[in-house]
Amino acid sequence: MSLKRVGILTGGGDCCGLNAVIRAVTRAAIIEYNCEVVGIEGGFEGLIENNTQRLTIRATRDILPLGGTLLGTTNKGDPFAYRQVRDDGTIEILDRSAEAIENFHTLGLDCLFVVGGEGSQEIGYKLHEKGCPIIGIPKTIDNDLEGTDYTFGFQTAVQVAVDALDRLTTTGKSHQRVMILEVMGRNAGWIALEAGISGGAHIILIPEIPYDLAEVEKKIRLRAEGGSSFSIVVVGEGAREKGGEQIVSEAAATRLQGVAQLGGVGNYLASRLGQNTDLEVRCTVLGHVQRGGTPTSFDRLLGTRLGHHAVEAAANGDFGKLVVLNCLNISLIPLEDIAGKVRTVPADHQLVRCAEAIGISLGRC
Ligand code: F6P
Repeated sequence: MSLKRVGILTGGGDCCGLNAVIRAVTRAAIIEYNCEVVGIEGGFEGLIENNTQRLTIRATRDILPLGGTLLGTTNKGDPFAYRQVRDDGTIEILDRSAEAIENFHTLGLDCLFVVGGEGSQEIGYKLHEKGCPIIGIPKTIDNDLEGTDYTFGFQTAVQVAVDALDRLTTTGKSHQRVMILEVMGRNAGWIALEAGISGGAHIILIPEIPYDLAEVEKKIRLRAEGGSSFSIVVVGEGAREKGGEQIVSEAAATRLQGVAQLGGVGNYLASRLGQNTDLEVRCTVLGHVQRGGTPTSFDRLLGTRLGHHAVEAAANGDFGKLVVLNCLNISLIPLEDIAGKVRTVPADHQLVRCAEAIGISLGRC
């Protein structure tokens, strides 16, 4: 089909590589199809409120090495369950999808590219079901989207965590301390696992495998007995002790977004280990530094390839699909197959087995 006008929005948490996608979509749409590109600002909120900007080759110049998103984003603004804060501070949930769909048509879009994680892709799928031609582009540092080998943003987050581990290791060794690094990832342990293996951690704790504190202590003790009185522990924010609960930080933002904000397991672990061993324990919570800064070349390339392929898919009328990385190639899968699904780490995943085979403890017997 001939593309005349396409739209693009970025939804959910920001991550590295978003600007590479925006740039690639804009350039491919203009250079290959002489098509107009509309940027929807602030995620789905911008579609509801009709906040847009014209994207041109000039407007997207120099954004490739930048973190964040030129278009802005938000975790709120689901048109099907819009959280409206009333004057008295209470929240009502509204269905504003009709406004979003009307704006989509008023903008005269042939297609909307939804760049986002599992939540945004689910919204995209619902809009597609209601007659909006949607193509999804998978994004998240958590790498927890079904159907794609990697999401962009993940690799940069892992690299940031590995850089932190390299730094923590020198302090751990110098002071003979147990150094704990808490990383993001929500309910998926991919960041903890890949960063832990790459950063030479001795213990990696992930949400998918509840940890046994006694096993963690045993590993630290055995290392000390073997002459290494320092240990490096990487813990995913969603990890929990066997028989325990995930640790959630009750911030005001959590209430407004309706999403539990994870965090605190690193400090919990530090206090428990501090009680039970005579070693000094310190915890570093990496937080949002994993999401910002300069994207790695991998994330820039993946974002660019996905953006280009999404434009090709739109030109072929392949709507209701997600562009994915599959064994080094970019391909398409139905949004229906992945909407609302999260890909966590299987307890017998090759990476888990690799970690344990080289002596890393995952806190289980
Ligand atoms: O999904 C990406 C992510 O960074 C998670 O790893 C983390 O739990 C969450 O977002 C943090 O969200 P917020 O930026 O709203 O605090």
